[in-house]
Amino acid sequence: MNVIRTIHEMRSASRAARVAGKCLGLVPTMGALHEGHLSLVRAAKEQCDAVAVSIFVNPLQFGPKEDFAKYPRTFERDCELLEKEAVDFLFAPAAEEMFPPRAVTYVTVEGLSEKLCGRSRPGHFRGVTTVVSKLFHIVEPDAAFFGQKDAAQATIIRRMVRDLNFPVEIVVGPIVREPDGLAMSSRNAYLGPQQRRAALVLFRALTEVRNRFDQGERNAGKLIAAGKQEFRTEPAVRLDYLEIVDPETLEPRLSVSDRSLIAVAGFVGSTRLIDNITLPG
Ligand code: PAJ
Repeated sequence: MNVIRTIHEMRSASRAARVAGKCLGLVPTMGALHEGHLSLVRAAKEQCDAVAVSIFVNPLQFGPKEDFAKYPRTFERDCELLEKEAVDFLFAPAAEEMFPPRAVTYVTVEGLSEKLCGRSRPGHFRGVTTVVSKLFHIVEPDAAFFGQKDAAQATIIRRMVRDLNFPVEIVVGPIVREPDGLAMSSRNAYLGPQQRRAALVLFRALTEVRNRFDQGERNAGKLIAAGKQEFRTEPAVRLDYLEIVDPETLEPRLSVSDRSLIAVAGFVGSTRLIDNITLPG
């Protein structure tokens, strides 16, 4: 695996791959890799001839009071995991390489960036779309792989790619969960054993909504109330939002008659976790 630190070198490597007739896949990450990330790497290996993974803890997508400084950084272990998956390129630039002094240009997907996590994390999605645009320009992948775990992020990136004509196919992989249902996340590393148990309430609430839906309930207000009720059983977790939205527009739905995204976010102590499921409608 070729570990690349500079934009110039990454460009040369990806252009050489393309000149050799290879289809190039990109998996953007912030590191602290787990099976969720690796599932995307495997999907990229399957679809593409060469695979680049980026590891960059992007300061632009963290709020001033968020966990940028303490975000888990496990570079050596990440390298070993990616070597095992036979990844071709690991792009791991320093912050100064990605953001030159006086950088003031942003990419914003207006109207979507303020929804769901965007409401409680102002500027978050702008940070994501700006850095992902930069990664697309630097790596020039044919396909890029994202997880359904961050459902709103995937929707917003798809819209950005469509609106700005990025020549890249967006592939979204399913959520990888722990055996007990907890969605894998780099932030799970922050949880103590009691918090780890409490964190299961997110998936329990989604499962409760799913069960009511399967029993025939289609009223979004009633489905949300059933999900929120689960949180009353778990005082260690503070609900941020539980919403039922259109997966393309992220607008709340009144009735679950079409395919719908049920998205939830909550704080376990100071750790913010998210999860979601899709209802077929
Ligand atoms: P990060 O949280 O490291 O996630 C990288 C990719 O892995 C994202 O596409 C995310 O949706 C996916 N992922 C995370 N947990 C997953 C799980 N349990 N199952 C399936 N996929 C999972 O998301 C980011 O980084 C950043 O915002 C980034 C896109 C890299 C831009 O900085």
